[in-house]
This record gives sequence, structure tokens and C-alpha cells, in this order.
Amino acid sequence: MRACAAIAVALVVVAGCATVIPHPTQDVLGRARIADAPASMEELTSGRELYVAKCSGCHQLYVPSEFSATKWRESVAEMGERAKITLPDQERIRAYLETFAKAEGGLTPRPVPSAETR
Ligand code: HEC
Repeated sequence: MRACAAIAVALVVVAGCATVIPHPTQDVLGRARIADAPASMEELTSGRELYVAKCSGCHQLYVPSEFSATKWRESVAEMGERAKITLPDQERIRAYLETFAKAEGGLTPRPVPSAETR
């Protein structure tokens, strides 16, 4: 029974985390670019994994929507250097965070560009 309780707690933690540190989905593709191309699902997924793995060692993870894309670009560059994260990995983390960043200078979420305009 103790094991059951532990699993239940673990599931709640995992579910709670998933809502705060969002997973990339098809409808957010195209919000961020890596080099000259829209970041792919694979790049955003690994960007999230890298963010969770490499940015949680010294402090709590910040929710992506807490900061603007500009702020994330600066933070990832600064923190990436401090944490000795390779530039390609920094790009994935940056693209992931930018995808879910808050609107520049505002609190409303960034509009999702429709597939036709991309
Ligand atoms: C080696 C420890 C360490 C790692 C790893 C680390 N950080 Fe930090 N981070 C800090 C410290 C210390 C601060 C406190 C503010 C400062 O010193 O700039 C901070 C502050 C921050 C802030 C707040 C900045 C502000 O203006 O409020 C953000 C955002 C941030 N880190 C993002 C990240 C991201 C993204 C990563 C992964 C790429 C990361 N951190 C990895 C040590 C770390």
C-alpha cells in the first residue's frame, strides 16, 4: 500500500509539472526559429528536456510564460555560459522557452500564427 501511495504522489507531481512546463504541440510550431527555419517538433521537445535537465540544478525552473522572448534570449545566453551548455543545446532551450514566452511588454499570450501565414 505504501508503494501505491508513493506512485500516486509521483503521478500528481508529474501531472502538476506538465501543466507548468508545457509540452510542445503541433499548434505552437512556428512560434520560434532556429537559424533560418521554424523550430521542429523534435527540436522543441529536446529543448524542453534540456531545459528541465540543465536549468533546474541551481534554482527552481521558471515557467516559460513568466518572461518575454527577449528576456529568455538574454537569460539562456547568460545561464548557458554559466552552466557550460553547448550552443546548439542553448538554441533548443531558447527556442522552446520562446515558444511559450509571454508577449513582449504585455501579459497576454502570444497569438498562434495560422498555418497559412507561415
Ligand atoms: C550554475 C547554476 C545555474 C544554472 C545551471 C542555471 N542558473 Fe539560472 N540563475 C542562477 C543564479 C545564481 C541566479 C540568480 C540571479 C543571478 O545571479 O543572475 C539565476 C537566475 C536565473 C533567472 C532569473 C533572472 C532574472 O532576471 O530574474 C532566470 C530566468 C534563469 N536563471 C534561467 C536559467 C536557465 C534558462 C538556465 C538553463 C539554461 C539556468 N538558469 C541555469 C544560477 C544558475
